[in-house]
Amino acid sequence: MKRLERTIQETLYFSREVVPVLQPVDINAEIREVLAMFRDELEEAGIEKVVDLSEDVPEIHVDPDQIRQVLWNLVSNAVQALGGGGKLTLVTRPSSEGEREGVVFLVGDTGGGISHDVVHNIFNPFFTTKPKGTGLGLPIVHAIVQNHGGTIQLDNREGEGVTFSVFLPRAPKGLGTGDRILEQMRKGGRSGTVGKEDSG
Ligand SMILES: Nc1ncnc2c1ncn2[C@@H]1O[C@H](COP(=O)(O)OP(=O)(O)O)[C@@H](O)[C@H]1O
Ligand SMILES: [Mg+2]
Repeated sequence: MKRLERTIQETLYFSREVVPVLQPVDINAEIREVLAMFRDELEEAGIEKVVDLSEDVPEIHVDPDQIRQVLWNLVSNAVQALGGGGKLTLVTRPSSEGEREGVVFLVGDTGGGISHDVVHNIFNPFFTTKPKGTGLGLPIVHAIVQNHGGTIQLDNREGEGVTFSVFLPRAPKGLGTGDRILEQMRKGGRSGTVGKEDSG
């Protein structure tokens, strides 16, 4: 995928409504759809797909555009880490976290993982280790997941690969703090490279 195309895709969320518009969604179908978008790229890079989608996952009430954005950004990072080939893993399973029922999905890769020096920064807006990265993929993922009342965990195996694990409840209880994070990012965040509005 071309770089500009990728950047636009990763940050499309900025042009949408922040408040999720909830609809019943089959997470497995969304994953299949996102994987289809990467099909050529996976093939060209010699990336092996391991897809294990549980038929027992409940339908969840989420904003489908936003959840597709989450999947897209995570898969995009995995594919970039897997430039030299390797394994991309997508897994879903039903879950109850505390009292809350929902789904867990995993996006994993064998792309070498994240250096312990920087791993604490990866959800910060504009943090990137890529020459032409935006540093916005994971902050957007984080904000969307939070907004849906979900959680995200990282299993970083330095030198091997990384697996992101996302829990989404069947239906969010209310809006989380993700709104504020996005608001901050829209206003320019730290470096102001994204559409900074000049008020004076
Ligand atoms: N799957 C991954 N493997 C290795 N490093 C990753 C992975 N996902 C994210 N990262 C690290 O986190 C940083 C931030 O990711 P992101 O917010 O998507 O911004 P960008 O992809 O534009 O750099 C990346 O630059 C990279 O260092
Ligand atoms: Mg990214």
